[in-house]
Amino acid sequence: MSPEFAQEFGASIDFDQAMAAEDIEGSIAHVTMLGSTGILPQGDVNQIKAGLQEIAQELQDGTLDEFTIANEDIHMNIEAILTAKIGPVAGKLHTARSRNDQVATDFHLWVTHRLPEVITAIDKLQGVLIQLAEAHTDTILPGTTHLQHAQPISLGHYFMAYFNMLQRDKERFEFNIKHASVSPLGAAALAGTTFPIDRQQTADLLGFQAVYSNSLDAVSDRDFAIEYLTNSSMLMMHLSRLSEELIIWASYEYQYVELDDAYSTGSSIMPQKKNADYAELIRGKVGRVYGDLMSLLTVMKGLPLAYNKDMQEDKEGVFDATTTIMGSLHVMTGMLQTLHVKDDHMAAAVQNDFSNATELADYLASKGLPFRQAHSVVGQLVLKGIQEHTALQDMPLSELQAASDLIEEDVYHDLDPRVAVERRTSFGGLPSPRSRRRLLRERNC
Ligand code: ARG
Repeated sequence: MSPEFAQEFGASIDFDQAMAAEDIEGSIAHVTMLGSTGILPQGDVNQIKAGLQEIAQELQDGTLDEFTIANEDIHMNIEAILTAKIGPVAGKLHTARSRNDQVATDFHLWVTHRLPEVITAIDKLQGVLIQLAEAHTDTILPGTTHLQHAQPISLGHYFMAYFNMLQRDKERFEFNIKHASVSPLGAAALAGTTFPIDRQQTADLLGFQAVYSNSLDAVSDRDFAIEYLTNSSMLMMHLSRLSEELIIWASYEYQYVELDDAYSTGSSIMPQKKNADYAELIRGKVGRVYGDLMSLLTVMKGLPLAYNKDMQEDKEGVFDATTTIMGSLHVMTGMLQTLHVKDDHMAAAVQNDFSNATELADYLASKGLPFRQAHSVVGQLVLKGIQEHTALQDMPLSELQAASDLIEEDVYHDLDPRVAVERRTSFGGLPSPRSRRRLLRERNC
């Protein structure tokens, strides 16, 4: 292997430069602590700190020198830039530190910084789902199991199911902060250091909630990143299910919804086409996030403690998953905000689909007929209805009574799909105004 190829194969600067701001932040905290503990003279500390602050400013302004592959990774690149600025005193920055705790610190910071952004984006999507649920409490559509019409439900009920799924996602990301916001800085290479460092001080300066209590664990742990990818995978799975339903609902056969032009594309050859490209892309992008998770799980599974170069493979998947989940949340939020619901098509779909068969069985059961028998009576009526193209509510009373003399005129009230939805007041059924208010309260706390 040529030295050039070895350098390229071993380098991570192409991707770990995404952590440049975190690397500088970590170094500023570290050198501040080296000063306050008297490990370095204050004069050196001031010089190093000023140099790092200048680099941070240049990074922000976009005027920083180009990173180079000759310096392998972001840590050595920043140190090289610092050395060019302030001279050999820059070399004192690495006292009582190793790249092993440095990279772990950067990565923890990076994930800790992203988590609130992800949570805010989920929250925004939940806000749109609540609005849709509020607007569509009275919009009726067929609820399905096995994708077969089952019972009528309200569209508001449906949207709130996704709200709840996202609530769990949010809680998982919130919990993730507990494991990401832990400082490995000061673990040094693996065994701690002989210098009288103050790990609590650097953790406080960096805003970490806790400090790793075992230096070996500190430099070896990537669980927080695996958790992040697990949570991202679960979130994408949810967004994919929602996408799938929107794609089906936007099809000619269903026509339950129409996607806004901004969220669909035409065909170059078929003028009538309106493709749900963006929903399909969200569904498709789940694959890469699952891949990111499997990749890191596999990288970590055989690693002895402590740092191994394999761990350089931990970052790209996390960066990629972040871009993917943030993009997907953004697209889904806009897509739902602009969604046109065709409530007339939804209502028509519950008229002749026998999705009120359970109502008739419940009606008979409430009049004392054992439910199994009621189910069989209704089954025969449905069969007849299918053969004669007559919905249950359109059968004359005499015909219904021939099946069971328990049936009276009031049955037609219960067979109305709208009534069927409104009567499902058991806990977890139709979100009543009261339960909707409770959900809103929960969301705000
Ligand atoms: N670029 C490395 C990574 O991303 C930094 C840590 C290197 N440490 C070491 N001992 N080689 O993991």
